[in-house]
Amino acid sequence: MNGAGGVVRILSDLHLGHPATQVREVAWLAPLLEGAAEVWFNGDTFEEHGAASAERGRMQYQELLALCDAHGVRPRFLTGNHDPGIAAEGWVELRSGRIFVSHGDMILAEVAPWKPEFLERRGAVWRLIREVGEVESLERLWGRARLVEAATLPDVEPKMGVGGRGYLWSAFWPPLRPFHILHGWATMFREAERFVERYRPGCEVFLFGHFHRAGVRERGGRIYCNTGAFMRSATPLMVELEGEWMRVRGVHRDRNGNFCPTHAVESFRIPS
Ligand SMILES: [Fe+2]
Repeated sequence: MNGAGGVVRILSDLHLGHPATQVREVAWLAPLLEGAAEVWFNGDTFEEHGAASAERGRMQYQELLALCDAHGVRPRFLTGNHDPGIAAEGWVELRSGRIFVSHGDMILAEVAPWKPEFLERRGAVWRLIREVGEVESLERLWGRARLVEAATLPDVEPKMGVGGRGYLWSAFWPPLRPFHILHGWATMFREAERFVERYRPGCEVFLFGHFHRAGVRERGGRIYCNTGAFMRSATPLMVELEGEWMRVRGVHRDRNGNFCPTHAVESFRIPS
């Protein structure tokens, strides 16, 4: 499964259906699909939870499938904590295992320690994590992440105001939340390294999202890339595999709202 024979792209965290997604029109994604043979949507592609968000999310997901079809792109999906039902897989290994792709919700035992529902129920969630016990395989880790996600679902759909304008303010409640968000950003590459060292030590590249904080780092001879998010206040990155090259490209909005790939922020040679 290495996408040989065409351009392969990886995106994450579209959050279709969420009131604060920047992707209000799925058609705006067309420039990111153009010229690709295959696009991996690395988790949190659409909202499965919350009645209104899920209804919009499912509709936009169908539009995304149609857009891929219209551009001759094979869409591939991996699960995220917002869309655990979108696929049966939570990771993929490309280029003979050199490139490991996973949403990132398995990096931290708490999945999303900045989530208000986790902060409210942390005692119960940690009991659950301890009950599962030592997790030796990625398969079991994926199962534990699903349990933690189920235990931290909101009781009511959060209100974000018109166009998701309240999303930024939601980062400040409960009061510990901004601390956990900033701590997550400050430590995500270190935690990502700990995660792959344990579960996929042979990979040379780890691509993830989840933290909504785009960035690229080299640590211990391995490349880590967080592809950010399409949410308000976040920026996305697009990873592109072509021949022996992996390019990390920026994404900008044109005057019509379309998401367009920019120059390569970083390029790496990953021989097949
Ligand atoms: Fe996300």
